[in-house]
Amino acid sequence: MTVSQTVFIGGGNMARAIVGGLLAADQTASSLLIVEPQAPTREALVKDLGVTALERLSVPVPADACVVWAVKPQVLGTVMRELAPQLQGCLHVSIAAGVPVASMQQWLGTARIVRAMPNTPALVGKGITGLYAGAAVAAADRAAAQHIAEAVGLVEWVAREELLNAVTAVSGSGPAYVFYLLEAMRQAGTDLGLSPDQAYRLAVATVDGAAALAAASADGPEVLRQRVTSKGGTTFAAITRLDERQVRAHFIEAMRACHDRAVEMARELG
Ligand SMILES: NC(=O)c1ccc[n+]([C@@H]2O[C@H](COP(=O)([O-])OP(=O)(O)OC[C@H]3O[C@@H](n4cnc5c(N)ncnc54)[C@H](OP(=O)(O)O)[C@@H]3O)[C@@H](O)[C@H]2O)c1
Repeated sequence: MTVSQTVFIGGGNMARAIVGGLLAADQTASSLLIVEPQAPTREALVKDLGVTALERLSVPVPADACVVWAVKPQVLGTVMRELAPQLQGCLHVSIAAGVPVASMQQWLGTARIVRAMPNTPALVGKGITGLYAGAAVAAADRAAAQHIAEAVGLVEWVAREELLNAVTAVSGSGPAYVFYLLEAMRQAGTDLGLSPDQAYRLAVATVDGAAALAAASADGPEVLRQRVTSKGGTTFAAITRLDERQVRAHFIEAMRACHDRAVEMARELG
């Protein structure tokens, strides 16, 4: 499923990743346009990806184009209001965290909007993106938005917009939890005598391998964990300490804090 042209408003990290993915999939450079005010960022996009990048939207956009909004949430309202008259009839996909569809509808004057919550592994093609579209968005538009998100990884549709806050808590902010775990594993390995580099390599490969095993296995994480936790053994000692310190409960609480902050931010940005 492709559209005649995909226009990116904002050419930062996320836009670069998605454009790279679309080019690697099936889209031609001539079907992509990026609007990016920063000259160095723009020049790097042209040089690295061979796409057209403009300082401002100075060319007509076909009515069947898809517009991907990849600017910071704080400036989205201003930019949408400014460009809306030039984007009549287009499908809109916003990756701006936290900005509700209702606000974007007002700014753009259309309900053809899909909201996306990607995550940073998108930068290496291993992202997962939560997608939401209101009832007014046609199946073809959903498919076009999904195609864009799939350029950088997997997708999960959610049925209600507020569930994007839960997606934020799980996968949007999720990479940071994993990096936090990696920091702790590197620290522990170093304390136990390994070099920091070696401890870090062991930790990264372990997280990668465990995720691959979980993804490939028909069993849930409880079963995978129990399989390597024989009573009285080494892993058992570690898990027992985690349970004693209620790490699981604290972790769940931390993710709830992330969710609640996403709800608050949606109110501030809307
Ligand atoms: N990174 C993540 O993990 C992640 C996850 C989920 C969602 N998101 C969302 O993805 C969006 C983009 O994130 P990012 O990390 O790619 O941000 P970024 O690197 O800051 O990219 C945004 C780019 O848009 C440019 N811009 C600002 N005003 C513009 C305008 N009027 N017209 C065109 N371009 C304009 C910015 O230029 P200036 O530097 O001049 O402002 C910047 O180069 C954000 O809304 C963020 O919430 C990011």
